[in-house]
Amino acid sequence: MAAPSARRILVTSALPYANGHIHLGHLVEYIQTDIFVRFQRLRGNRAIYLCADDTHGTAIMIRARAEGRSERELIAAMREAHLADFAGFQVEFDHYGSTDSDANRTLCGEIWRALRDRGLVVSRPVEQLFDPRAGVFLADRFVRGGCPKCGAADQYGDSCERCGATYSPADLVHPTSTLSGATPEVRSAEHLFVTIESLHGFLDRWTRESGALDARVANYLAGHFLGDPLRDWDVSRPAPYFGFEIPDAPGHFWYVWFDAPIGYLAATAEWCARHGESFDAWWRPGATPAEIHHFIGKDITYFHTLFWPAMLEAAGLALPTKVRIHGFLTVDGQKMSKSRGTFLLARTYLAHLDPAALRYYYASKLSGGIDDIDLNLEEFAAKVNADLVGKVVNLASRTARWLESTGLSAAYPDDGGLFTRAAADSVEIAAAYEACDFARAMRAIMLAADRANAYVDAEQPWKLAKAGPEAAQKLQDVATVSLNLFRQLAVYLAPVLPKLAADAGGLVGGPIRSWEESQTPLVGRAVGPFSPLMQRVDARQIEALLAASRAEAEAHPQGGHAVDTTTPSPAAGGDPGAALAAEPLATTCTIDDFAKVDLRVARIIAAEEVPEAKKLLKLTVSLGGDTIRTVFAGIKGFHEPTALVGRLVVVVANLAPRQMKFGLSEGMVVAASGAGAEGVYLLSPDAGALPGMRLH
Ligand code: MSP
Ligand code: ZN
Repeated sequence: MAAPSARRILVTSALPYANGHIHLGHLVEYIQTDIFVRFQRLRGNRAIYLCADDTHGTAIMIRARAEGRSERELIAAMREAHLADFAGFQVEFDHYGSTDSDANRTLCGEIWRALRDRGLVVSRPVEQLFDPRAGVFLADRFVRGGCPKCGAADQYGDSCERCGATYSPADLVHPTSTLSGATPEVRSAEHLFVTIESLHGFLDRWTRESGALDARVANYLAGHFLGDPLRDWDVSRPAPYFGFEIPDAPGHFWYVWFDAPIGYLAATAEWCARHGESFDAWWRPGATPAEIHHFIGKDITYFHTLFWPAMLEAAGLALPTKVRIHGFLTVDGQKMSKSRGTFLLARTYLAHLDPAALRYYYASKLSGGIDDIDLNLEEFAAKVNADLVGKVVNLASRTARWLESTGLSAAYPDDGGLFTRAAADSVEIAAAYEACDFARAMRAIMLAADRANAYVDAEQPWKLAKAGPEAAQKLQDVATVSLNLFRQLAVYLAPVLPKLAADAGGLVGGPIRSWEESQTPLVGRAVGPFSPLMQRVDARQIEALLAASRAEAEAHPQGGHAVDTTTPSPAAGGDPGAALAAEPLATTCTIDDFAKVDLRVARIIAAEEVPEAKKLLKLTVSLGGDTIRTVFAGIKGFHEPTALVGRLVVVVANLAPRQMKFGLSEGMVVAASGAGAEGVYLLSPDAGALPGMRLH
């Protein structure tokens, strides 16, 4: 229980997007935050750890379309996957919400009202690229075309990978929508803006003087943003958009980055409702304010250090005490890469390695700064084996078994001052944790572990064990010292290694509940049976992890699929030979025969039911450019028409048109069916294929 003098600390991690799986890059942040929260609790402070899925925006909408389901189905599936990944790494939230919640909608409305009341909202038209085929406004990353500066083909809508130029998507040479292949049109729509310049003075002061930001970050903001008038912040998007409709602006939705940080407030409100706590006690500036710590990656700095404090200030809410910004993860010195197999998903890691190993490795690399951190897989194995297995666990495994029958000595033996010295390290280790300089904390802990191992080496208990009854007391004393030094290390490591701490408690002394337990040795206690506390990392496990990641990347080049690929589809459960038996292979044809059939990639741009036909859907498909065809496909009942729009399929493009009762069919969509499973399975090309490409 927290003492009356205890701090009250609200801690958040950035809300992960619901359109992808958790990977080891994300985990730098969630593990870092979880360690900080566990440390605060161990110290007797009251800390709550809040997070949520970030569910809104164009990317989710497009992905849901591509996967043939609704946005809400997609985000519900992804929530389960995220929660399982976090639990697998012992990242424990007090509450995990969603930005698509009632609480968030209400709070967005309240903050919006406050911004309106202060006269901070203005409206004006914005020209944006619009995809006439998919019927959506295009975010920059959904447009590609030639770089207007250097002419490089196939560049993103906002910047050129070849020459580094930045520009507006409207400037691209021959822009194409990556959603439909259509040529986007420039369309004008009203957008709502927050005139954040009216809070410029406040932001100048807050970024420099509040203590929430490192000087380096404050200087960066001053240099890049605060030196000039702040541009109005565009916080609305016209329909269609997956998000919350703005109550006083029908047809307009809050931009995802408006409602996302409000998700921190919504998670607090939901947690408070569940625990009978007051929201205001956490978020209203009061006589005894709570601390608010946001952990984020460097890529989202200005959202959290300019827009977010401006919104909070305008709404009269408490400002962050600290925004703790970390760098990005590289793997073996490079950006995570699908082709190298280093795009490592959380769940792939969990299938091959111990989560504690990664928690410790990250802790040993995180120094509280903004520098990138590298996961060097060789170093990872070496460090975990040398430090955790070789130094920490070894202390217990070498000595615990001699205490199983006797328990700890009745009085704490003379250990040459080892326990007291490591107890005094508590101050430095705690200061390092508090500063999120976990690397410094781990170094200090490993130095103490080195001293403890040197003691055991010098005392040679295995010799005492052989020496017979006259050495029994000495053996018990040496083992008592060793096990106490082990437990002391387990207390210091508990924020990083909760499982090891729990196992240490099971071995001797019961659950570790407080940092203070590092200060007094245990005596006269029973010692439980020893079971292995941690396994060595084997190079073969790492090989297997990389191989699995490579295979995954090949199966899903677009990555992070919301579809759970580990669950076999009903078809996969069937007899693998049944399909071939029911429909034997056709007679041989020549390559010329095959070439007569012109198979093309096509994009479905519209789909509707044919009410009079039991099996047919009417599809409008684009073969690229201006070539549009109507096709009647026998897939009704297996595919929701709305879910088909946007996806790529394969069509027989040179099939003679056929007049049907409902209209002219100008081709055929290729699909698989047959014995082994019910259903009609549409074929999809790998990501990157474009409408019009021929199948060879
Ligand atoms: N949804 C936004 C955050 C909204 S907060 C109101 C977002 N989501 S994210 O899924 O892309 O990233 C979540 C967090 O993970 C961010 O803080 C981001 O910086 C961090 N990381 C994502 N990839 C990372 C690495 N490769 N390395 C380290 N951190 C990374 O941004
Ligand atoms: Zn260029």
